[in-house]
Amino acid sequence: MGTPSPFSTAIWYDLMQLATHAPIPELYVSYDSAQKLKREAADLPSWDLSPRQICDLELLMNGGFSPLKGFLGQADYDSVVDTMRLADGTLWPMPITLDVSDTFADGVAPGQDIALRDREGVILAILSVTDKWSPDKSREAAAVFGADDDAHPAVNYLHNEAGSVYIGGPITGIQPPVHYDFKMRRDTPNELRAYFRKLGWRRVVAFQTRNPLHRAHQELTFRAAKEAQANLLIHPVVGLTKPGDVDHFTRVRCYEAVLDKYPASTTTMSLLNLAMRMAGPREAVWHGLIRKNHGCTHMIVGRDHAGPGKNSAGEDFYGPYDAQELFRAHQEEIGIEMVDFKHMVYVQDRAQYEPADEVEDGATVLNISGTELRRRLREGLEIPEWFSFPEVVAQLRDRYPPRSQQGFTVFFTGLSGSGKSTVANALMVKLMEMGGRPVTLLDGDIVRKNLSSELGFSKEHRDLNIRRIGYVASEITKNGGIAICAPIAPYTATRRAVREEIEAFGAFVEVHVATSLEECERRDRKGLYKLAREGKIKEFTGISDPYETPAKPELSLDTENVEVDHCAHQVLLKLEQMGLVAV
Ligand code: ADX
Repeated sequence: MGTPSPFSTAIWYDLMQLATHAPIPELYVSYDSAQKLKREAADLPSWDLSPRQICDLELLMNGGFSPLKGFLGQADYDSVVDTMRLADGTLWPMPITLDVSDTFADGVAPGQDIALRDREGVILAILSVTDKWSPDKSREAAAVFGADDDAHPAVNYLHNEAGSVYIGGPITGIQPPVHYDFKMRRDTPNELRAYFRKLGWRRVVAFQTRNPLHRAHQELTFRAAKEAQANLLIHPVVGLTKPGDVDHFTRVRCYEAVLDKYPASTTTMSLLNLAMRMAGPREAVWHGLIRKNHGCTHMIVGRDHAGPGKNSAGEDFYGPYDAQELFRAHQEEIGIEMVDFKHMVYVQDRAQYEPADEVEDGATVLNISGTELRRRLREGLEIPEWFSFPEVVAQLRDRYPPRSQQGFTVFFTGLSGSGKSTVANALMVKLMEMGGRPVTLLDGDIVRKNLSSELGFSKEHRDLNIRRIGYVASEITKNGGIAICAPIAPYTATRRAVREEIEAFGAFVEVHVATSLEECERRDRKGLYKLAREGKIKEFTGISDPYETPAKPELSLDTENVEVDHCAHQVLLKLEQMGLVAV
């Protein structure tokens, strides 16, 4: 046991609150030094940060990730992965690492400085490299996210998006990433601390969220503020969240629409540019540390906090209250008190929200899940007043009109010679006959001529080709048109990335043209299979390179002994069933 504290708990708590309002160390240098460093850094090797890395860097530099002073080195990384602690024993549950490509890693060594740039090439920081290593990603996935399963968004990111080498070391901050949106709503930890200090807010409960605010959340926040006798900070995440979430522009408009339902003298809202990992329990502890850094004394942890959804076996990754449990176990060290809630449900007979464990037996309980809400928006169905606020629903309806008014993408995938192009062409003509939306066919040959003429057929180039197709299709979908794509697209991970990109704007209809290899080879229209068998074409899908069959396509087409017209019609029926077209 340590020495007993000389202070009573009440005094200790008061001191803790004062400490949360004093400024927190940032990693920025002065303006003059920054200008000088920028000039000098022009000659350094430079790394273009990914959107997630920009979020991480911003919170490193402004103290949101205090006590971290940079991207983790190997000893800290190993320790965080295995024990949720930095090598010196400090609680820190999330590996904040800088992943880079092999090629870039080959050109840097410990002892060297590198410039970290945003997407426009602006230098945001200098990283003094101390460590460079190739992580065991499966181990990281299992330890940090609980399973090495690509169904977890962060595990998928780790294996399929992140580079294979990590570099770590302290950061010298030059300037924060530039934001052009909602500037007045973004605050650094020190800005929030100063604001709380100015208003005399000694107790502040933070509400973390990545979803629009509905009535259940309002009840949760009201209750939390009352319970903790604290002011309320609505602290939504506007960095990266879970693929498929409502985009932050729409969400912030939703929050702004309901802010006047809160007492202005005790409630404020600030946006947090955090890249979430959806790591449930570990994430809750991390969120606690981040909120502590932002000057809060309490934080709400409800049901399934930062939950990633189902694993590939269809089960939840974490229990609904695992996050609360882990938080509770580390609460003192985090330095922030948890305000925990059981699942809030609407009790019809009492016309109010209550935690599920307080509902009387036999009472009628209503609930609309996120999936059900999306379905109702998609189909233009009623969203009841007890569930949300008309102002929020109006914003959501504006962003998510019924599917018949949205753009969408039909993505054919299948072996070479399976009949993708032929069916895609027939589908295009049928859709053009119907009218309503502009239709674009992104067929393999057209794309290779107009977008990717410099690319060859290596794995890397084929992947790049598909990603370009996905990018163009997502733009078409966003703008309300129909994109029909017909590449081979042999890899699951790439198809998934394209799906996620497109589903942010409209439906993604994956059609597997399931013609067998034998049949494709028998047809061999372009004579390619013969050349592949003779070894004259390398890495040929189906012969010398794998085709990963889609596990859950929206539609699987059998083209053998079936007319093209019929195949295209099957796709039309699918589109009708999904509410995308009226046949
Ligand atoms: S999260 O990924 O940020 O956790 P979300 O924005 O949905 O997702 O939730 C924000 C916080 O509210 C979390 O602490 C979550 O547990 C809690 N929460 C959301 N809905 C409910 C509910 N119906 N009952 C209890 N807690 C909830």
